[in-house]
Parts: sequence; C-alpha cells; structure tokens
Amino acid sequence: TRVAIVFGGRSTEHAISCVSAGAVLAALDPDEFEVVPIGITRDGRWVLTDGDATQLAITDRRLPEITVDSGRMVVLPADPVGNNLLVLDPVRGGQALDGVDVVFPTLHGAYGEDGTIQGLLEMAGVPYVGANVFASAAAMDKEFTKKLAAVEGIPVGPYAVLRNGVTLSEEDKERLGLPVFVKPSRAGSSYGISKVTDWADLDAAVAAARQIDPKVLVEAAIVGAEVECGVLEGEAGGAPEASLLAEVRVVEQGHDFYDFEAKYLDNSCEYDIPANLPEQVTRQVQEYACRTFTALDCAGLARVDFFVTPDHTVYLNEINTMPGFTSTSMFPRMWAATGLEYPKLVSRLIRTALR
Ligand code: DAL
Ligand code: MG
Repeated sequence: TRVAIVFGGRSTEHAISCVSAGAVLAALDPDEFEVVPIGITRDGRWVLTDGDATQLAITDRRLPEITVDSGRMVVLPADPVGNNLLVLDPVRGGQALDGVDVVFPTLHGAYGEDGTIQGLLEMAGVPYVGANVFASAAAMDKEFTKKLAAVEGIPVGPYAVLRNGVTLSEEDKERLGLPVFVKPSRAGSSYGISKVTDWADLDAAVAAARQIDPKVLVEAAIVGAEVECGVLEGEAGGAPEASLLAEVRVVEQGHDFYDFEAKYLDNSCEYDIPANLPEQVTRQVQEYACRTFTALDCAGLARVDFFVTPDHTVYLNEINTMPGFTSTSMFPRMWAATGLEYPKLVSRLIRTALR
C-alpha cells in the first residue's frame, strides 16, 4: 500500500504536526507500506522530503520546521506554471500523489485539521485517514463543536462567542464570572489561550487570541480534572469505540493551565491512564466521547477532551479530529493502554480509510 504522510503546513501547530508525522513514519512497517513523506512549508509550499523521522522531533526545545531548502528536504518538481498544488493530480506522472493509495494528513490546526486538505483530497479522489470535510471544519471550530454537541445533550460549560470586533458584554461578564479562559475559536496545542483572572486583562487576552483567529471564545473556567478519551471508528462500520481515559495533571509551578510549554517542552505534566475515576463516571465520559464523535459525523479517529468536576459532573471541552500523534501523545498512549499498540493503531487507521 502506498501511503502519503502530509505534515507541517500553514498552521501555528506546524512543528507539532512534524513531530506527529515523525512518529507515524517511524511506525510504518516497510513490508506493508511504501511511504511518500510530503512536508508543507509555513507558507504553503509542498516539498517531498526524505522522510528521515529523526529530523522531525523536538530536540533541546528546538521545534522542527519544513523549509524548501533546509535539511535534506527535496523540493518537488514544479509544474510549468509553478502551481505546486498540482502535485495532487494523481494522473500526472512522476508527481507526489501519483499512485498513492491513501493519504495520512498528519496535520494539526488550520489548513489541515479543518477540512481544507480533506476538500482537496476529495476533489482529487484520494482516500484519506480521518474526518471528512464537514466534520473536520466543525470540530476545528470550538463554537460549532459546542453547538452541535449541545443539541445531542452533551453538556458544555458556559461560554460566549466574540466575533471579529465584538467585545464581551457586561451581562456576559456577570454570567461567566472569573476566571475565564480566552481562546481562538479555531486553534490547537493551546496557542493563543490565556487565563484571565481580572477583567482589566480581558482586552489583551482577546487581542492575543485574535492574532490566531478573529473569532474568539470566552469560557467560564471549570474547576476539575482534564480528562481525555480516544475514539476510533468502529471496524466494519460498527459503532465507534472508546479507549481507556487519561487524566492530565500539570505538576510543575509556573503553568497556569495545560499550556503549550507544559504540553510539549517542560515535562511538567503527569498522566494517569486509566484516569482515576469511578467506573460509572468513566463509562459516562466514554459514552459522551462516542456521541460527540457521531454528533459531528467524524470518521477514523478523534480525541475528545472533557472536564470532570470534583462532584463528577462531566463537561465537553473540545474534540480533535487529528489529535497529537507523537509516540508520547495522549491518543496513542490511551490506545496502547487499551491494547492497541502504536504500529497497529496506525495500520488500523489506514485500513479504515481504504475501506
Ligand atoms: N492539537 C493537538 C495536536 C492535540 O490536540 O493533540
Ligand atoms: Mg486541540
């Protein structure tokens, strides 16, 4: 099977995507898969790389990056009008997706996890791992995730949506209370998120989030544990399957919450897999996770994140249709704990996409 791994890209999560791809590349069995490793630069150029997974890791807090001329990346031959998107035309000989059976878009965030590459692949008629155009777009956007989940009866915490130029009303300040979390509506890996404990700091937090997305969410802080659940599309079209749960604990001082540094740079988190929750709360979270997956029409995989309060009330936080896929990321770790090791997980996802 010829599988193209696509990574990097225009999103703020460029580097994390590279790290995820590195782990996927390292896990693919060369007897089963012929790999085409395609990087996308931060400005959207597609380059065929040598697929050296060791280049795609965080070393000494340095984040990997795809560039056209650095490292051992090889630039794809440009077509006559220099439109490198044409590499996606599978009928053009010698080009990157020529003869590719399936694409694993190991892309996080905008331009990859949001339906854009999924649309391109639909148009090119190439199967791909993960959610379709609609589900990707809906799951990328925290406003629509909450709205679609809420109509299915999945609890979401209090929030307000600030469209471009809009500020938070006094009424909403009263309703949400302090502290609040201010987030870009469409982003990931905690980029652009601030915790606000004084309304005087709200405007700066909204401005920071708007650097990434003009639409901003203000969410009431929910006191409780961060609990995550992996979901896989059922085999042979069956119901979605939930993994064991993970609970994330930020253990080091200096992190207000589960931010970018805590996630990827500082080793400041501990994870309990399975989460230390009563059986029936675990089942509730797993059931909400599968229902969220179905409510948004997801396919392949997703990681669904929740808050669980001390009295065991469960709130949906968000869903990721291409969750972090590094070997130490939560999604593969939860599945490994459930009995599906990383290489088997990757090949199951590819088989599902080809079904
Ligand atoms: N957006 C990051 C990659 C995650 O959810 O794991
Ligand atoms: Mg996310």
